[in-house]
Amino acid sequence: MVNWPDVRRILCTGGAGFIGSNFVRHLLAVRADVEVVTFDALTYAGSRENLRDLPDEGRHSFALGDITDRAAVERVLDGVDTIVHFAAESHVDRSIASPGAFVHTNVTGTFTLLEAARARAATITRFHHVSTDEVYGTLAPDQPAVTEAAAYAPRSPYAASKAASDHLVRAYATTYGLPITISTCSNNYGPYQFPEKLIPLMIVNGALGKPLPIYGDGRQIRDWLHVEDHCAAIVAILERGAVGETYHVGGGNQPTNLAIVEALCALLDARYPTSPQVPHAQLITFVADRPGHDRRYDLDVGKIERTLGWRPRHQLVDGLRATVAWYAEHGAWLAAIRDSDDFRRWLALNYEERRS
Ligand code: NAD
Ligand code: DAU
Repeated sequence: MVNWPDVRRILCTGGAGFIGSNFVRHLLAVRADVEVVTFDALTYAGSRENLRDLPDEGRHSFALGDITDRAAVERVLDGVDTIVHFAAESHVDRSIASPGAFVHTNVTGTFTLLEAARARAATITRFHHVSTDEVYGTLAPDQPAVTEAAAYAPRSPYAASKAASDHLVRAYATTYGLPITISTCSNNYGPYQFPEKLIPLMIVNGALGKPLPIYGDGRQIRDWLHVEDHCAAIVAILERGAVGETYHVGGGNQPTNLAIVEALCALLDARYPTSPQVPHAQLITFVADRPGHDRRYDLDVGKIERTLGWRPRHQLVDGLRATVAWYAEHGAWLAAIRDSDDFRRWLALNYEERRS
């Protein structure tokens, strides 16, 4: 175990969401010397169910609260020395439909946290900010992977709000000496991902025999990373990362969306061989494209590999197979979301118009 004298009580904002809950679980499993506090507003994307059966419940506590509420942030920061900031509005399509919530949470919320951390300079030893490859905007097929030195060019309200929050985090390091680190990550997949995102949506729709909606021509390219690899990267940055630095985190793959969905269809065929939906690829349906749809992302992850020795451990197809299995085995978790009015409303808003 790496010597970690400064870190004892870690606040995870957004710890009831997809990546945050995987991180809380991972951190409690790999570090016996930390206490973890989850601070989460439990929006549609967050749930206490995501934090069930943690490895060591006694070292975890949950605080309901909003990162834009300074008084609530002040209360939860008592005794905290490290902040890992996941909380955000995270879905690009929702940012196109309703951008205001993204500016409020991702920009004002991050600002509120930064102000609270600045006022506690004596006790906050690290502010780790979780960012996204979308801040760099879109790449052409032949462009090289971007390094941490690339210029920002966000193109969706989500990406712009995350870019703004990154700029604020860096400004607080430069101006006030806040001890920050940033991880900039590609598309995550794995357990507990809210089924509005591509991979879980395709798994859920495929298993139910519903259409698999592919935006545009389906030739957009993303880099996919298993969420556990992202969590391990953040722990490596907390343990060994240099204060003030940004680290890219990605899986080193470049499949098209269509290739991902076809791979999922093959995995669904294997899991449900007697289903009338076989072959599941027959459910693929091309629908109207996302406005301003970024064509391609690709992160150069050389820095974190060279300096911290981090590498992804999950192969993409194996990770996808395990993810299909996880959703198949967590029917009650899924049903609670799928049967909610909020989720039904979202599907109607995002997909009905696209199909017509
Ligand atoms: P998510 O939408 O699954 O979870 C977000 C969590 O934040 C939820 O638990 C929600 O309740 C909470 N939250 C939202 N607004 C809040 C507020 N005002 N106050 C307190 N809590 C609030 O998101 P995710 O996919 O787990 O992403 C987590 C972070 O990682 C985000 O910052 C996102 O930008 C970043 N990221 C995500 C990916 C990805 O592929 N999902 C990739 C790179 C970076
Ligand atoms: O790149 C990192 C980002 O990845 C994170 O910062 C975001 O929080 C996360 O949501 C994700 O953004 P994307 O827009 O890439 O993820 P999403 O799962 O929404 O879409 C992945 C790709 O699949 C994208 O090109 C759009 C396409 N897509 C998505 C949905 C939901 C479809 O073709 N059909 C769909 O129904």
